[in-house]
Amino acid sequence: YDEPWRWDFDLDWKSVIDIDSEGYHVPIGHPGLFDLCGSSYKDEVLESGIGRSYGSFKDRKAKTPLVKNYIESLPESNYLPASHRHLWIYWGLFPGIVITLFPDMIEVYQVYPTGYQKSVMAGSCYALPDARPEMETARQYNREINMDVGDEDVQLVKWAAEGQRSSAFEEVLLSDLELGICAFQNRLREIIPVVSLDRAPETGSLKAVNQKMIKKRNLISAA
Ligand SMILES: [Fe+2]
Repeated sequence: YDEPWRWDFDLDWKSVIDIDSEGYHVPIGHPGLFDLCGSSYKDEVLESGIGRSYGSFKDRKAKTPLVKNYIESLPESNYLPASHRHLWIYWGLFPGIVITLFPDMIEVYQVYPTGYQKSVMAGSCYALPDARPEMETARQYNREINMDVGDEDVQLVKWAAEGQRSSAFEEVLLSDLELGICAFQNRLREIIPVVSLDRAPETGSLKAVNQKMIKKRNLISAA
């Protein structure tokens, strides 16, 4: 459904995923999405390590015309359980894949590195054949809401990049609300321990340093 989309960032892919892994910026950063879900929007990290964020617009009185139009035009989908007919659910799979389930379609996207301080977020939407004109209308409103969310995230990512590159930036202090970021970074440190070093290893030595760190960790845990 719709054309595949792509955003290019002048930023490390991990930083893009960090911003994408927490939802406390939704009330300020995404006025449309917040109008849709309000305070029902929640982030969770499941035991399996999979991240889940979701928000409901059941009985919600939207204020903005776009969100109002989406809610009003969306027809019922009988194949969905009643509990999922008003939910937007985002599943985050390590390291950088997100599957979003809307009542009217699904979206799959991934974030991947393309070079030093370069990354891409790209995805596509899929929908079941549905001849109802109101479903087509709802899907178009959905895309508009989500394109706004995307543009807003691009801006947030740029601001974060400027902050991280400024001389005032020392290190990250995570709040309890950033459990998604914490889970993502912990997993990275587990698999690629070299990312936990304060300074990058000398050029050409990254793989060897990483293997050495894995070996040392295995020795400690075996002892
Ligand atoms: Fe966002």
